[in-house]
Amino acid sequence: MLKKMVFLGTGGTIAGTAAEASDNVGYTAAQLGVGQLLQAIPRLQQALGPHAFLAEQVVQVDSKDMGWAQWRVLAQRIQYHLAQPDVHSVVVTHGTDTLEETAFFLSRVLSKKLLAQKAVVLTCAMRPASSLAPDGPQNVLDAVAVAGSAEARGVLAVCAGTVHSARDVQKIHPYRLNAFDSGDAGPLAYVEEGRVRWLHACPDADAAADFPLKALAKDPWPRVEIITSYAGAAGAIVRALCADAAVQGIVVAATGNGTIHQDLEAALRVAQVQGVRIVRASRCAYGGIVAGVAEGDFPHSKGLPPVKARIALMLELMA
Ligand code: SIN
Repeated sequence: MLKKMVFLGTGGTIAGTAAEASDNVGYTAAQLGVGQLLQAIPRLQQALGPHAFLAEQVVQVDSKDMGWAQWRVLAQRIQYHLAQPDVHSVVVTHGTDTLEETAFFLSRVLSKKLLAQKAVVLTCAMRPASSLAPDGPQNVLDAVAVAGSAEARGVLAVCAGTVHSARDVQKIHPYRLNAFDSGDAGPLAYVEEGRVRWLHACPDADAAADFPLKALAKDPWPRVEIITSYAGAAGAIVRALCADAAVQGIVVAATGNGTIHQDLEAALRVAQVQGVRIVRASRCAYGGIVAGVAEGDFPHSKGLPPVKARIALMLELMA
């Protein structure tokens, strides 16, 4: 059977345009549809090889504005397509700013069985489509190469010829084309002239049980906030948050190996007694908290950075 690769558009700089082709920063994201983007890519059909393709615009946003409504529909559409026997894989075009959050979210909510067989590849661009030298077309071609590779499965991210897992990918640079990194884990693969050179096998799905996708229909999603510990941090921010009964969880971007300013920590203990779930993550760019023999008052995020720890806690509260 001829299998399809499905392209789902969500907006981002890859779909952005500027008034001047020489302007790589003063653009508006999410202006072109995914169909238009694909049409402008030379040799796409060649890269697709035996696969037909289908393009669908799921949402159209600057990814800084990504929210529950967009995530819900994206997860539903991906799950729908992955479940079709004639769909080989799914490529999602996305803004770079919250790509790591969407990738992690998808890796936690999509069917583990489907992700064990098929790949969902997120890709993006640091320059708008109108740029003199846009990076989006090459990133899409690289994503197609990854999606078409026999080794690919699960949720992956592809940018600047580098393949990252949903768990480890993080944006580390606001401007460079090679804006993503996988921290200590390192990348999964490189894409070189359309060939994928795998360094590691794609990781298995994180959690044992399938997330009940229907739970995403609930409105609103649990409110989990992120606060940071820093020199001079005070407990007032925690008390202000807890004054809002909707706040169910707080992730602390803690210093170093999970330490928290004493004033903040005292306020967090009070919040915990009031029923707010507290998780500590490290604000360090690389590595996660290395737990000692005693766990301490607040559980740590098992290596997840604050933004992903927040998603994990939110999903736990939802499921
Ligand atoms: C966005 O994240 O949608 C805008 C920035 C980008 O894609 O690089």
